[in-house]
Amino acid sequence: MSDDKNLRPATRIVEAGRRKEWTQGVVNTPVWRASTILFDTVADLRAAVASPNDRLYYGRRGTPTQWSLADALTELEPGAAGTMLYPSGVAAVAMALLSVLKPGDELLMVDSTYEPTRAFCRNVLGPMGIATHYYDPLAGAAIADLFTEKTRAVFMESPGSLTFEVQDVPAICAAAKACGIVTLLDNTWATPLFFPAIGHGVDLTILACTKYVVGHSDAMLGSVTANAERFEALRRTTHQFGQHVGPDDASLGSRGLRTLDVRLRQHQAGALEVARWLETHPGVARVLHPALPSCPGHEVWQRDFLGSTGLFSFVMAGGDDAARADLVDNLDHFGIGFSWGGYESLALPVDPRPLRTATGWAAEGPLVRLHIGLEDPADLIADLRRGLDRFVERR
Ligand SMILES: Cc1ncc(COP(=O)(O)O)c(C=O)c1O
Repeated sequence: MSDDKNLRPATRIVEAGRRKEWTQGVVNTPVWRASTILFDTVADLRAAVASPNDRLYYGRRGTPTQWSLADALTELEPGAAGTMLYPSGVAAVAMALLSVLKPGDELLMVDSTYEPTRAFCRNVLGPMGIATHYYDPLAGAAIADLFTEKTRAVFMESPGSLTFEVQDVPAICAAAKACGIVTLLDNTWATPLFFPAIGHGVDLTILACTKYVVGHSDAMLGSVTANAERFEALRRTTHQFGQHVGPDDASLGSRGLRTLDVRLRQHQAGALEVARWLETHPGVARVLHPALPSCPGHEVWQRDFLGSTGLFSFVMAGGDDAARADLVDNLDHFGIGFSWGGYESLALPVDPRPLRTATGWAAEGPLVRLHIGLEDPADLIADLRRGLDRFVERR
């Protein structure tokens, strides 16, 4: 709605992507259900086909419903050229990688990456002749030691899935740029509100919008936002793979986005309160939360991030898988299930050990990942206290 480039993120998030020609004066861009678009004349049809963007042409290429969300996500990333939407976060990861890599290239992938990203490298990129080499999430500028003539891209995820190591994204991007290597970041945890990735030097930034953008655990959605050097290749690849997001899901994404700032601040406050309390309990050996000094890479988080969100893990002080299952099963206010980023709290038993290849993972006990929702943290702490007290008594 406004062209003011100096708007603060909380204002931007309310106004972005709500162009009058898309909203027609309604507050939220309406849901356009479309496959065929009809034209008055052959000349009109040809003109629409010739126009690259934002012109109704065929449903797969989107309508104002999808464009408005994509535009809003671009506006949240200063320096970005555009955003493409995908039916899930995993599809976004896949398309971002395929827009960069070709057979014979090598990819450097962070060892703490989300498991399906690792599976994509193994099961899709590998057979295409693209080799993946894994690196230590704390590598920083030393990533340059791993570059070969074939290295085409470095993929980061910060903080890492399950174990939350914070990566030195600016240092990695600077090293990569000096060698003409493309950088990609899974920025789902922080979102552009707490880590504007393009401004930190990243070429392609990926969100599983399923999490905090949608924010209500009721739709699957992904996005990739790219700088000017990478956006055309991203768009071409996306179109060639026929990627499309349904208008209802795009609309849910836009609705979630409008409250992202206020929700993230609440997730941040609740998660910090729970994490700090967990640090004091004898049933807990370690809390892996980027905003706590004990988290690997905490000083980088402090330097680069504008906030922390609701997802973190803790290591139990001893115990085994059965003790962990007993703890999680008996929590009253934490759901047991995959994904995160909704308004509800979740607890999940996780094990990074089989997923690591470049680095190891050793811990004092089993690992539990928590997502802290929008409940009152006092109720969540009381719930965890009951479970952890019982664990300590039985240990
Ligand atoms: C860090 C991260 N990236 C990507 C994804 C994939 O997103 P989706 O479930 O929408 O495919 C997830 C899902 O949990 C995730 O945690």
